[in-house]
Amino acid sequence: MKKYNFDQVIDRKNTSSYKWDNPMYAGKSILPMPVADMEFVVADEILEALDKITQHGVLGYSIVPDSLKLLAQKRIQEEYQWETAVEWQVWLPGIVPGISIACDIFSNEKNGVLTAIPVYHPFHLIPTWLNRPILTFPMVEKEGRWTYDFEAFEEALKQQPAVFLFCNPHNPGGTVFNQSEIDQIVRLCKQYNCLIISDEIHADLRIHPQSKHICIGQYIEDIPSISFFATSKAFNTAGLGGCVAIIPHKASRETFIKRTFGFMPMLSRHSIDVMSATYLHGSNWLAQLLPYLKQNHDFLLDFVKQQPGLGMIPLEATYLAWISYDETWGDLPERLLEHGLHVLRGEQFKGKNFIRLNFACPQSQLQEACQIIASLAL
Ligand SMILES: Cc1ncc(COP(=O)(O)O)c(C=O)c1O
Repeated sequence: MKKYNFDQVIDRKNTSSYKWDNPMYAGKSILPMPVADMEFVVADEILEALDKITQHGVLGYSIVPDSLKLLAQKRIQEEYQWETAVEWQVWLPGIVPGISIACDIFSNEKNGVLTAIPVYHPFHLIPTWLNRPILTFPMVEKEGRWTYDFEAFEEALKQQPAVFLFCNPHNPGGTVFNQSEIDQIVRLCKQYNCLIISDEIHADLRIHPQSKHICIGQYIEDIPSISFFATSKAFNTAGLGGCVAIIPHKASRETFIKRTFGFMPMLSRHSIDVMSATYLHGSNWLAQLLPYLKQNHDFLLDFVKQQPGLGMIPLEATYLAWISYDETWGDLPERLLEHGLHVLRGEQFKGKNFIRLNFACPQSQLQEACQIIASLAL
């Protein structure tokens, strides 16, 4: 079995990297930790799949082969214990466009979209783009993890949103929703007749050994729902895109498929072959990645604990730390940027006095980031 070296620092500048080639950094030396991709080379088998395409050299239109559909079905069954049918699958180039189309179809200008905050920004931006009412309720800290304020959730549901956007594991905050939470979400959404759109892109990034990913879709097969899965986030192929929507309800699936025509490009051969290689051969790489991420997580958590006025709740999944800061730190994201570290401002996710920091990097870079933060302590 190949041993991967996640300590290796790779120069990503001048690679059209969304993270490293941000025009805002021109002429400055900035350590970027905003965008959710990782600083690591992907699994060998993924590179081999890409080499094969290059050697063949023809880049025409592609279809999703049955073999890939079966691999996705197998993974959902084996990893998350949800038995799905292949015909429930709809393949798309990305989850965010898929969520946009789903919100467009299933909500309207009266019955809008509900989501917990803070949340991955497209969840609150998509309804705004679509001119749909957006309802939110807060995540709260309970027993050392972020969870829902279920009373506020129910109050929001009483205002009759048509769609609930569920992020599991949650970005930011890293919650892997447990059985009791999933049961409550299902019960309440059924009671208030609210369709669940579940984004499970972070499902394979569980760094807490006890956390188990539970697919909400298995409890609502009899009513319309959409669950999105992708290998792109956990296996660091985000730039290639590719995802699968599981839509058990036939009429909703057909409506969704029709609505994608003309709005969604076809998947590229690169993304198709890379997803196949990932499902087939990615497990060794992922098994080495997760302890590395956990080590970075623990390092960062220890560091944050030592800084008066900073706070962080341990994550169960993802590599996106959600760090609170008090007034003694001033405008922390702005000050960090001035000192060479770019993190995302909590407001982007509808969270005030937080930063989101991506720790999926060699530990040397994380240490550098912590040094910059420490240098700003009063
Ligand atoms: C919760 C969540 N969903 C979706 C995405 C992006 O998905 P895609 O690139 O398939 O649109 C991200 C990226 O960070 C994410 O965090």
